[in-house]
Amino acid sequence: MGTFVVNASNVATASDASLTNPAISSISPDGKKSFYLETFGCQMNAHDSEKVSGVLLGRGYRAVENPAQADLVLYNTCSIREKAAQKVFARLGDWKTVANGKIIGVLGCLAQQEGEEIFERAPWVSLVCGSASYRKLPELLAQLEAGGRRVTGLDLDTDETFETEITRRDNLIRAYITIIEGCDYSCSYCVVPHTRGPERSRASDAVLAEAQRLADAGYTEIQLLGQTVNSYRDPSTRKWRFVDLLRAVAAVQGIRRVRFTTSHPNDFNHEIVHAIDETPALCDHVHLPVQSGSDRVLRAMRRTYTREEYLQKIEWIRAAKRPISITSDIIVGFPGETEADFEDTLTLLDAVQYDTIFSFTYSPRPNTSAKDMPDAVPEEEKSKRLAALNERQRQIQIANNEKLVGATFEVLVDAHHAARGQWTGRSTSNRLINFTSTRENLLGEYVSVRVTRGGPNCIGGEHVL
Ligand code: 5AD
Ligand code: SF4
Repeated sequence: MGTFVVNASNVATASDASLTNPAISSISPDGKKSFYLETFGCQMNAHDSEKVSGVLLGRGYRAVENPAQADLVLYNTCSIREKAAQKVFARLGDWKTVANGKIIGVLGCLAQQEGEEIFERAPWVSLVCGSASYRKLPELLAQLEAGGRRVTGLDLDTDETFETEITRRDNLIRAYITIIEGCDYSCSYCVVPHTRGPERSRASDAVLAEAQRLADAGYTEIQLLGQTVNSYRDPSTRKWRFVDLLRAVAAVQGIRRVRFTTSHPNDFNHEIVHAIDETPALCDHVHLPVQSGSDRVLRAMRRTYTREEYLQKIEWIRAAKRPISITSDIIVGFPGETEADFEDTLTLLDAVQYDTIFSFTYSPRPNTSAKDMPDAVPEEEKSKRLAALNERQRQIQIANNEKLVGATFEVLVDAHHAARGQWTGRSTSNRLINFTSTRENLLGEYVSVRVTRGGPNCIGGEHVL
């Protein structure tokens, strides 16, 4: 897990309260039922939404940008922290008196976590489905279309993964492929094993076929996804490990960049570094969440590694032939975290020199073993530690990004800011680079950019023609 995205939108209001859910009936001018889907949370969710959209498009639905115009309004939700869950309930609350015959559905982690409770809190909702049950979505939709009032998909015992015939790709530059779903770890703070169920890997031939289809469609960058992507175990007779799949995806004709996220330190081995070293298409970036720099806290979090073992893996990465950027997730204020434990996290930042970190204050979650742990850290102290952590990391980024001035990176261009006269893209090390160019139409192109200025978060440069 790592980067979090929210596709923000305004929920428009209509008049006329309705607590009954007639079958989807308001057929739009083109004769198709319409849907609106908003996504909260991680890249896994963002990609699940692409697949859910694919299922809906395959059933003849049409996507709309405005929920007020949709027959079916879906929220693909996150429950990793309390705030994420609150945001979803606030969205649902917007429909309290104005659902107006629409079908409102809750998908994803909050759906799995709260289950039928959602109907209690928001009786105007008629679909609740967790990600481990998405294979059942067509069947659930058929029930709704036939006038079903409340349908649920909450089983976790599925040992299959979510395969779709069509996946609507929202990102035209980078394509995602889920290779493993669920999680078999039991980090004491984390809801994911409960919301996404046990680990299930996809067969390697299915993954490779999807990579080839993406390459044929013109994609050059692929990101392999999984909550613990490097725990991948091929269920087919080939019995590939993660590193085998990584090399094979990188060898697909037409693919120039392969990324993967999120790696669990426990399953991160030296062979992954060798593979990156030997395979130019494997991006020089590893997201390796440490969560804490204190052994005491790591034990309480049930992370399964010590600080020293983690630092050993960082050494392998630092010893690679080409520089590999390293990023992390960190939680501050875990129950019982002392000033000294927190100091250990700060010194770990100094030792590793991360390119960037995603930092969070600990949030107690239902169905986790840390929820009732004693010695909660007061909210005010958590916020203070978060600010201190971010300031330390900011200084590290300023110093390191400054050293990049004069270096040249290959950038895959993914945005243009006309007002600023700038282009934006990512280097293979996943650095965000803003740059100027005298050329036009650079979207989707690989260009050389010389860095002219460092900065804490993104660096600036100019196109080298
Ligand atoms: N409180 C705060 N942060 C959390 N994360 C996961 N669970 C919690 C929680 N209960 C963070 C971890 C994880 C990232 C995606 O979210 O750092 O790696
Ligand atoms: Fe959550 Fe830990 Fe699994 Fe990551 S490895 S999804 S933090 S339980």
